[in-house]
Amino acid sequence: MKQPTSFYLLTDTHYVSKQNWVEGGPFTRRERGDQIALKLSPEILDTFIEMILADDTVDTVLFTGDNVDDGDMNSHVEFRARLEKLTAAGKKVYVTTATHDYCSPNGEDECFSHNAVRYTATGTEPIPMMLRKDLFDFYADYGPKQALSVDSESGSYVVQLGAGVRLCMIVDNGNGRSHCGLFEAGVRWLTDEIHAAKEAGDYILLAVHHPVIAPWEVFRHMADYELYGGYRELWKLMCEEGVRVVFTGHTHVQSIRKYTDAQGRWFVDVATVAAVNAAGKMRRVTVDPEQGVCDVTSVPLDHITGVDTGGQSVFEYLYGINFAGRVEKCFPLVKTDFDRFLDETDGVLPADKLRAHKRLVKLGLRFASKRKLAFAAKLGKTWRTLTAAQKKAAKETPLMDVAFEICRHIYPGNAPFTPDTVEYIALHGAAARLDRMVQKHKIEAVQKLIPPGSSLAEMAEDFLYNNRTGSDDAICIDLK
Ligand SMILES: [Fe+2]
Ligand SMILES: [Fe+2]
Repeated sequence: MKQPTSFYLLTDTHYVSKQNWVEGGPFTRRERGDQIALKLSPEILDTFIEMILADDTVDTVLFTGDNVDDGDMNSHVEFRARLEKLTAAGKKVYVTTATHDYCSPNGEDECFSHNAVRYTATGTEPIPMMLRKDLFDFYADYGPKQALSVDSESGSYVVQLGAGVRLCMIVDNGNGRSHCGLFEAGVRWLTDEIHAAKEAGDYILLAVHHPVIAPWEVFRHMADYELYGGYRELWKLMCEEGVRVVFTGHTHVQSIRKYTDAQGRWFVDVATVAAVNAAGKMRRVTVDPEQGVCDVTSVPLDHITGVDTGGQSVFEYLYGINFAGRVEKCFPLVKTDFDRFLDETDGVLPADKLRAHKRLVKLGLRFASKRKLAFAAKLGKTWRTLTAAQKKAAKETPLMDVAFEICRHIYPGNAPFTPDTVEYIALHGAAARLDRMVQKHKIEAVQKLIPPGSSLAEMAEDFLYNNRTGSDDAICIDLK
């Protein structure tokens, strides 16, 4: 009898050492313009680790890249100390790395930062950095040394996760503008490893940093290079070989997507939100080899150790730090104190450009702030289809509130506006009307944003509700 195996998975921890910045100035602007809580990244990671250590039913932890934010050594040394804490407590830890984990001072490797920096009060100064070639040895204790097999070219490896279950951690360092996937020999190695697992009677799970299925079709259309390099080849391999699940990160979006080929063969991409996003969660996964199922759930933070959130939820507390949340928080100032709105969103919005066209921007934002949902319903000619209660709600609901609610669900997934809601009817109708206008007037600037065979209305659906697997947080996958 093979016992079930459980693991936690964290991705995109984007750890930033406290040695790397001072309060105020450039790093605050850097963080505001991002969508992750960089300053609190140590506290957030430590809280997740406390939760993992408190759970003696799970003995394995995976990290799937962008472990640190800027490829600097300070952060890598501190991040690895956290891994040591986990292994000292008896946990098995398996790690891969990604483009934020190394620098490339001469530009030979594509990465997030060519040089690692410390943020001072007025600018930045160079600090020691991690090179891509040194990553494998640095993290060798967390995967490669326990591996059944290692691909020498990429550093990818396979471990025995538990009885009847193997895990292949694929290393795909790159950002796709070159190639962020396995090369020919690596694909052969992966295929051989899948066969070896089958021969041993084991299931095999895959994990890789870059997404194998895009969270939204528009993502694939606009940023195909951000996906796992050679993803179509991997789709084919997984379908042909019956590998049913790949765990990914990188987009920072919580998303569970299923791909089915023409023969009805399928697999699931479980993409996990960045641990340091306001909506940060870790996955808790249990594989039962006897039943042949992989059960995925998600675990959020209900506190951050050492941080007083003033009674706010972790999401509310962190959301206002970054781009979308900051704009939402400051938006009421558009009506009352426009200059302060620009000051408060400095680093988020292009304050200089907005100031240069201040009158026009102010008029535009005030116009937007006054619109109600009814405006979208009338634009989309769906007003008459609404019930009396829906009309009342549409007249009372500010359009910007709906827009902000959609933004709030971009990273956590599970957007709330199902087809029966007034928000869906109004916005979907407006998008469909815009589709007709774009086609009629051949507006190329918009046409090129729309994936072939798709439409603005179809693109909007991705952001209105979960039209995919029903939940971005949980799924039970049949491995058989
Ligand atoms: Fe990331
Ligand atoms: Fe990434």
